[in-house]
Amino acid sequence: MIEIERNVYLKGLNTFGLDVFASHYVRIRKQDDLPELLESDAFGEYKQQVLGLGSNILFINDYFEGLIIHMSLKGINIVENGSERVIVEVAAGENWSDFVDKMVESDLGGIENLSLIPGTVGAAPLQNIGAYGVELKDTFVSLKAFDLASGKIVSLGHSECEFGYRTSIFKTSRAKRFIILSVRLKLTKQHRLKTDYADIKRMLAEEGIEKPVIKDISRIVKQIRQQKLPDPATIGNAGSFFKNPVIHPLVFEGLRREHNNIVSYPDENGFFKVSAGWLIEQAGWKGKRIGNAGMHDKQALVLVNFGGATGSELYQHAMNVQYSVKQKFGILLEPEVNIIS
Ligand code: EPU
Repeated sequence: MIEIERNVYLKGLNTFGLDVFASHYVRIRKQDDLPELLESDAFGEYKQQVLGLGSNILFINDYFEGLIIHMSLKGINIVENGSERVIVEVAAGENWSDFVDKMVESDLGGIENLSLIPGTVGAAPLQNIGAYGVELKDTFVSLKAFDLASGKIVSLGHSECEFGYRTSIFKTSRAKRFIILSVRLKLTKQHRLKTDYADIKRMLAEEGIEKPVIKDISRIVKQIRQQKLPDPATIGNAGSFFKNPVIHPLVFEGLRREHNNIVSYPDENGFFKVSAGWLIEQAGWKGKRIGNAGMHDKQALVLVNFGGATGSELYQHAMNVQYSVKQKFGILLEPEVNIIS
């Protein structure tokens, strides 16, 4: 039986640590809860917002007039165990970082670069989480989702999800249509490690590790993240607030003529991905605090709540940063975090 609760406090369910209430809230513990929810009066009456751990979300208002669907399905199962690879099915409500740790402990490779990313497994496909040269799509096989349009459980393969840089159909053409129930990933028993990211290379060299194993990469990634990124348990944040903008080569040439130290990387389509952190830093916002909102002093791309900021103050701060980068560079930064009003 599902229980729809009223006026629920969401401070523990958003990593910005905002004092937000939701008018309606339901916790989903098993797949069968969803057809029941679809039949309920509350479902048809209110706008809905699915939440995992609330680590990529900014509530602009203190009161969310709608239904929070909190996914807490649990379970990790090996569904195929070959000599070289393993297919593992993970339920949406599992904590991503804990799941990665378990796989790393079992010497299963493919997601070690994604260590310590906050959030749940069910949220990972939405923005195709990525870090240190690896994205979810690199190991993704398929997912199971509850289709709100038909009330049926469907399976979606890799190409159907249309993964891109921090995006998928779950953020674009099919936003709000599916609730992700579980994800299947293909992990390897062989070490095919991705060590080309500059920070990883540097740390391996510093530690004198010539032949790293999965556990080394996971440990190093955790160290890099802990040095640069604020821990949401102590300072409210949702990781990178904006995406790194991807720019046409002609526009990029113009920019480079004016700013020859611009930090950028060519992408696979001949475009240039420009470091949003660098743009924000150059515009003077790194470590700058206004009231209780600011951009982190070690990574300018991370919007932080120093304590007591409201959602609208944080949003206003982000919009000021966006405006100022647009004025200085002519580039419009696009939020990576989901903004909920
Ligand atoms: N940089 C600056 N100033 C800054 C921040 C960065 O100049 O304040 C420059 C530096 O030159 C640095 C380069 O940008 O070497 C790249 O910085 P970093 O390695 O921190 O990566 P990022 O591009 O800023 C992205 C992801 C992060 C992910 C890291 C590592 C996005 C939006 N963000 O950040 O993901 O951890 O790469 O792979 O793509 C997240 O999505 O929440 C997130 C934290």
